[in-house]
Amino acid sequence: MKFFIDTANLDQIKEAQDLGVLDGVTTNPSLMAKEGITGEANVIAHYKAICAIVDDNVSAEVISTTYDEMIKEGEALAQLDPKIVVKIPMIKDGVKAIKYLTGKGIRTNCTLIFSPGQALLAAKAGASYVSPFLGRLDDISVDGLALIEEIRLIFDNYGYATEILAASIRGPLHIVSCAKLGADVITAPLSAITALLKHPLTDSGLATFLADHKKAAEAAK
Ligand code: G3P
Repeated sequence: MKFFIDTANLDQIKEAQDLGVLDGVTTNPSLMAKEGITGEANVIAHYKAICAIVDDNVSAEVISTTYDEMIKEGEALAQLDPKIVVKIPMIKDGVKAIKYLTGKGIRTNCTLIFSPGQALLAAKAGASYVSPFLGRLDDISVDGLALIEEIRLIFDNYGYATEILAASIRGPLHIVSCAKLGADVITAPLSAITALLKHPLTDSGLATFLADHKKAAEAAK
């Protein structure tokens, strides 16, 4: 399973990259705004800075909503760096834009997926990734993980190459559940990724190992 980090924060991207487990980055206009990145030139510079840190897979989202504008914006984003994946919203013109950009050899990530039918349409249009938002479904008492399971079944039934990129991840259990269900990718905040490290028995076990080693070394003096 691939691990993407869901942030536009360069320090957090560097920290995840340093951990050695990072396969990519997803951003969206809200995450860019959170970092105070506004204005076309700053946004472009920020995408380039992210691409300089990671090996591949930097999702950069279009902010236009019509077919003509989305393909223009998507082509310009793809020109920035071969690592860019153009993120397109699940709307009618978005599906058409995915089809067009796929035909031009540009990778796409169809975002704001909340139903299996939306994922199926995006896969038919040739999206490289679909991004179902688990946490936002859970937030309204709908089972987000069930959506991953349904999309996995549909894609496997027909052999779609489109990868399931589980997004809107809230914590480490979401990541583990996505792995069990066969999501191809998760994108998560750094806190959810590093939370996978933690277990109290690991900490107490390590403390005992080190204490025993110290005791034995002192006894041997
Ligand atoms: O990048 C899209 C997605 O992961 C958003 O997550 O936490 O805003 O629901 P969230």
